[in-house]
Amino acid sequence: MTAPLGLPASLLPWFARPAARAWACTPASADVRVFHAGLPGYSPTPLIEVPVLAALLGVGQVFVKDESARMGLAAFKVLGASWAVHKVLSRRPAGAELLLVTASDGNHGRAVARMARLFGHRAHVFVPSGVHPVAIAAIVAEGARVTEIAGTYDDAVRLAAAAREPSAELVQDTAWPGYEQVPGWIVEGYTTLFAEIDTQLADAGAARPGLVVVPTGVGSLAQAAVSHYRSRPGASAPALLSVESEAAACVLASLSKNELVSVPAGVTVMAGLNCGTPSMLAWPFLRGGLDAAVAVTDAESIAAAHELAGHGIPGGPCGAASLAGARAALTGEGADARRAALAIEPDTTVVLLSTEGAAANPVPGSPPG
Ligand SMILES: Cc1ncc(COP(=O)(O)O)c(C=O)c1O
Repeated sequence: MTAPLGLPASLLPWFARPAARAWACTPASADVRVFHAGLPGYSPTPLIEVPVLAALLGVGQVFVKDESARMGLAAFKVLGASWAVHKVLSRRPAGAELLLVTASDGNHGRAVARMARLFGHRAHVFVPSGVHPVAIAAIVAEGARVTEIAGTYDDAVRLAAAAREPSAELVQDTAWPGYEQVPGWIVEGYTTLFAEIDTQLADAGAARPGLVVVPTGVGSLAQAAVSHYRSRPGASAPALLSVESEAAACVLASLSKNELVSVPAGVTVMAGLNCGTPSMLAWPFLRGGLDAAVAVTDAESIAAAHELAGHGIPGGPCGAASLAGARAALTGEGADARRAALAIEPDTTVVLLSTEGAAANPVPGSPPG
């Protein structure tokens, strides 16, 4: 069926650092899983084996972690927002009404708004231009105030950070100097997703993953992947591949320059990946523990979303970026060198994170669902 989506090595936006598998860090707090398990509506999201994709990518098994229905929301982000809001509330006097403020391309804002509602507080979400109206309506439906700005995600973060008042708490999923604690909790919250995958692969009798593919915006989710897989001495570490939109590949640019750099944000259907600056907190983890980074086009992610839909997985454009990135890396001209850098063998188990459902961020060209 497919057109060859792997690009010639020279044209593919690609970075590899094979030494990353030996990098090590400390694990996230185990309290996170216990907290999530007690939340209303929590259950592990599905991990779905798709043999057709294994054949397509030339590997042993492919599993897709489907985040399209995470605690009643259409993206993984609530794992981080819930733990961070819980930690923020626990350092405030009981009974004080708070305003939870954030900037978001959609999914994180909706998750913060949901948590504000759950815990009896208000939320204010700053949204950059270019976010799909469906995503904005979803935040409003959670009861939050939404301010749409004529600017980029980075602009929205600056406005949210400046809009603080005594009853306000900024719950932002990216870090900068002086703002690190809350984003650290958000990353800790994300690690539940990887703990679920460990259990699910073991239950399925599958091999440990040899490659885990992560859609990347500011890099907090990728940081969670690194902190999960690089903090278990003795366990064979998978290769970790970050996938960004070509329109905003700030992690790829930073890895290539070996320093944290910003890129101008572009226009992309992968709204949650449209971030121009990596999280300062994530950067040391990404530089040390990521094996490779690739960037994909909107056309590649849309094609991948249609492919996932054909297997009954309703991935939105950010979620489908994982499949698009795996295809770009593992197939096409120059793939031998990229596969070698990722230590891919014909029997390797690959896990693709499909981080959002199409309900969160509709896929262009799909029938209205
Ligand atoms: C659906 C989806 N996938 C992936 C990401 C990337 O996460 P991060 O910004 O932590 O890299 C986001 C961020 O908003 C997202 O909404």
